[in-house]
Amino acid sequence: MAEARRRTAVLISGRGSNLAALIEAAKAERYPAEIALVVSDNPDAGGLAHADAYGTPATVIDRRAFATKLDFDAELDDLLYANRIEIVCLAGFMRVLSPEFVTAWRDRILNIHPSLLPAFPGLRTHERALAAGVRVHGASVHFVRPEVDAGPIVAQGVVPILPEDTPDDLAARVLAVEHRLYPMALRLLAGGRVNVMGERVFINGERLAPEATLLSPSD
Ligand code: GRF
Repeated sequence: MAEARRRTAVLISGRGSNLAALIEAAKAERYPAEIALVVSDNPDAGGLAHADAYGTPATVIDRRAFATKLDFDAELDDLLYANRIEIVCLAGFMRVLSPEFVTAWRDRILNIHPSLLPAFPGLRTHERALAAGVRVHGASVHFVRPEVDAGPIVAQGVVPILPEDTPDDLAARVLAVEHRLYPMALRLLAGGRVNVMGERVFINGERLAPEATLLSPSD
């Protein structure tokens, strides 16, 4: 019998292109995670259409309906529990989760961020990377901690910055990497190959496993 796939929820607030990439990857027979649930805190999130198109169950927990962050997070936690969710992937989820929630899901909750962390946490990462004059940029998948855009890094993907790049050019190049990186990181975690020790990630017991890095081919 095939091994049980880890039941995974993807949390979104917007477009949901990373959600689509995760659902698409999880269609493969041997992929170790199943996207069992999509949760949006925004009823108008474009990504809900992806869930619909793929027939993935989706629920909206409208952030405006909750007086406090803790109330919202308790509802979310109940929903995840009721759906027997084991892993949570934040994919453009524009809400900071409470330390209580994050602690309860410690080392079972991933986020994708459009920069090479710890550089450029926060918003407008592509614009800031161009302004800073860095030569390379990219995306990171990391475990979530109470501090925003911090936490042990599971996988990173690197892209070059080209001379005429606008923030939109760079965003598109990074996004293409994100769509490969997130499925790769979830594959590693759901496959039981990721351990966190001393706030560092080990993959198959290796500190810097090459399979957790995506490098663009040199031109
Ligand atoms: C991505 O760039 C992701 O890294 C960031 O938010 C964006 C979400 O895009 N956290 P999408 O909704 O997955 O298309």
